[in-house]
Amino acid sequence: MTIPLLDLQAQLAQYRDAALEAITRVVDSQHFIMGPEVKAFEAELAAYLELPVALGVSSGTDALLACLMAMEIGPGDEVVTTPFSFFATAGVVSRLGARPVFADIDPATFNLTEAGVRAAIGPNTRAVIPVHLFGQICDLGDFYDDADRPVVVEDAAQAQGAKLRGKHTGHFGEYTCISFFPAKNLGAFGDAGGVACRDRARAERVSIMRLHGSKPKYHHHFVGGNFRLDALQAAVLRVKLPLLDGWAAARRANAARYDALLADSGLVERGLITPPTVLPDSEHVFNQYVVRAKDRDGLAAHLDAQGIGHAIYYPRPLHLQPCFADLGYGPGDFPHAERACDEVLALPVFPELGADRQAAVVRALCTHYGI
Ligand SMILES: Cc1ncc(COP(=O)(O)O)c(C=O)c1O
Repeated sequence: MTIPLLDLQAQLAQYRDAALEAITRVVDSQHFIMGPEVKAFEAELAAYLELPVALGVSSGTDALLACLMAMEIGPGDEVVTTPFSFFATAGVVSRLGARPVFADIDPATFNLTEAGVRAAIGPNTRAVIPVHLFGQICDLGDFYDDADRPVVVEDAAQAQGAKLRGKHTGHFGEYTCISFFPAKNLGAFGDAGGVACRDRARAERVSIMRLHGSKPKYHHHFVGGNFRLDALQAAVLRVKLPLLDGWAAARRANAARYDALLADSGLVERGLITPPTVLPDSEHVFNQYVVRAKDRDGLAAHLDAQGIGHAIYYPRPLHLQPCFADLGYGPGDFPHAERACDEVLALPVFPELGADRQAAVVRALCTHYGI
């Protein structure tokens, strides 16, 4: 049995006709840039997140970049973030000439910790970017409520629909940045992203930033970029947004089934596989179901041979990336992040996976370890 890591075809039938209708509507209108579809999607996204304002942008990367640009982050500034994330999280900081300052992760959740963030903050810290990795909101405890903390830019690229203590992303920081890359729980038909804010003035600056800093047209207040969301993508996202919570629930059910199968298999008890940790009061949306595995690379080769999809998010921490060598970090600086890079493995968890295929995945894990 071949089992893919992700099967986007499996959910296409649920929205294919509606998406094609939406695309036709945009094509017939010939209104491809900004316009009513983008506006309507922004209103629907804001309502979903229970935030006053949301903006469509060109990608999750550009969402982060536009927020940092709106804050005028640049040379001499520091931004505290995690070394265990997709490259974009720290890449946007460097692109603006500012310095990413890393703090180690919590080995249970793979997310930043309150103590780690507090210790990394210095006089030049302008912002903190907590990443809600794999679909679980980064719990920085009381830090989020501190009146004098630096600005928080939530990297919610992987966490659409996730909640912590009953609140969606965007209710912890000043900005929440979303990716609608096709492999995310809510994916577009190409690159797309979003920013949402509690504060309208902050959102307004981001909104101007995505139009080359101009308002009205051809009157440039600051140097921005073209960070617009395509109307075609907005129209597709409008069709898919109402399905997001159902997909997240199916992913959660799959995660719970893996937890039970792994516990029954003896893999957990023997310390061979460690399932993911879900914090109390946290609604994880499992964009990825990531375990720690003994002999991870051997297991990955075994799954390859069995035709079972898997992935390593991420094989190398950001502080040890060649392009960040000038930051002066070295091996051993963030041991939890480095260890995670050696041990993590994402297993298939897409909504339509089903019990039989999950049982086959766990059987394949067992055969690798000879149990
Ligand atoms: C944690 C994180 N941040 C940022 C991004 C960037 O999003 P995009 O690919 O839409 O630019 C991603 C996407 O993979 C991500 O996973």
